Amino acid sequence: MASKTFEYAPAPESRAILDLKPSYGLFIGGEFVEPTDGGHFKTVSPATEEVLAEVAEAGERDVDRAVAAARRAYDKVWSKLPARERGKYLYRIARILQERARELAVLESLDNGKPIRESRDVDIPLVAAYFFYYAGWADKLEYAFPGRGSPKPVGVAGQIIPWNFPLLMAAWKLAPALATGNTAVLKPAETTPLTALLLAQIMQEAELPPGVVNIVTGAGETGAALVDSPVDKIAFTGSTAVGKAIRRATAGSGTRLTLELGGKAANIVFEDAPLDQAVEGVINGIFFNQGHVCCAGSRLLVQEPVFDVLLGKLKERLQTLRVGDPLDKNTDVGAINSKAQLEKIEELVTSGVDEGAEIYQPECDLPERGFWFRPTLFTGVSQSHRIAREEIFGPVLSILTFRTPDEAIEKANNTPYGLSAGIWTEKGSRILHMAQRLRAGVVWANTFNRFDPASPFGGYKESGFGREGGLHGLEPYLTFERGSS
Ligand code: NAI
Ligand code: MG
Repeated sequence: MASKTFEYAPAPESRAILDLKPSYGLFIGGEFVEPTDGGHFKTVSPATEEVLAEVAEAGERDVDRAVAAARRAYDKVWSKLPARERGKYLYRIARILQERARELAVLESLDNGKPIRESRDVDIPLVAAYFFYYAGWADKLEYAFPGRGSPKPVGVAGQIIPWNFPLLMAAWKLAPALATGNTAVLKPAETTPLTALLLAQIMQEAELPPGVVNIVTGAGETGAALVDSPVDKIAFTGSTAVGKAIRRATAGSGTRLTLELGGKAANIVFEDAPLDQAVEGVINGIFFNQGHVCCAGSRLLVQEPVFDVLLGKLKERLQTLRVGDPLDKNTDVGAINSKAQLEKIEELVTSGVDEGAEIYQPECDLPERGFWFRPTLFTGVSQSHRIAREEIFGPVLSILTFRTPDEAIEKANNTPYGLSAGIWTEKGSRILHMAQRLRAGVVWANTFNRFDPASPFGGYKESGFGREGGLHGLEPYLTFERGSS
């Protein structure tokens, strides 16, 4: 089959802007410090397997040190600061994030494997936007929740984030925590720690008081130590399995908890939808960030009369996706974040073939080193197939069909998850009808994977509980004192 892509000359973004150090310590009390037991781990570029740096692994004692630093900063400085002063620090951080946006985008793409086009145009602008947005709330909390009493911070927040949007998830966690007057200990994911450590340098540049933000790098054990430490709140984004373990570990402790877990979103295309536009939305819904997206539109539900036409268009579009070097500005689909994630995708895709679904993959040359997976479509998928039920978290779309809106609703809601959904139709009334009946925290209409700091995000059922973003995103970080306002 002839390739549908033009030959493009490579257009790599330069790495020269980065000042990568061979080794990074933990960020505790405003300083980079060595871990107590001296352990380090390596982070690689998933596109080449090149080691980028070694990073300190925080043990229990290091985590306790970080929590103690956060507690001191909360008691002595941050909780005593007038709210508008807190806001000023957040604005300052947001402005530095903008100034250093290019550096952050290059580092994110290098450590994570996502295309520079996405880190440059989506991740980093949103990171700054979340800081700007929550900076605005810092001195307006009294007006945010009328009739609820006087809003007070919770104290020290422990925050554990995943590798799919490393810096954006750090912003989702830190910006509302700081705006509401809490201090924080953040644990980045073990495959993508570098932008969080650059953020630590930005915190220093902004002269944020020492200990307000602490960053402890490490893997699951470091995260578990943070969960077991005397923090007042845990915010977690990651897998449902770890979310459940954290829920068990915090039960009865009085520690506040919010969980943002996985998803298996239905993206529903009706026969009256503008199909070319829907194709772009479906492609963006599942191939954005290699499908490493908790709200990815991983189940496409197509109304039967347009199935053949839509499938033809999707296959054509798949052939034009450029898979390769994340730092190349022409790249659409980058590297899979880790070997472990690649193996998980391969295992689920094999199960799809074994269970009788039909696989389609475009021809494309994949680099020899690194972790790569071809954009993939499955047709002939039934509701019971693992590829229709389990989160693949990769560039793999399962396509099912439906006849009536009721059937679409039943199929869409037939999942243990409930994070997001998409509707494609020309009819406004149908959008409202569907949106009311879909059990999903976010429902997009004639678009997909759109984010805005003012809009709450979160799930139902095994997708977790609690909301991040918007006014709702302030609540998990506040308590309300009755009678004092
Ligand atoms: P994970 O849930 O193990 O990792 C997420 C974060 O939790 C990381 O920072 C990790 O170090 C930390 N962690 C791991 N074990 C922990 C524990 N016992 N206590 C506290 N923290 C712990 O996710 P993983 O293994 O990287 O990915 C597995 C699957 O999870 C993916 O294939 C995907 O389906 C799903 N996932 C969903 C995400 C989302 O955004 N909802 C993000 C990442 C993964
Ligand atoms: Mg990495």
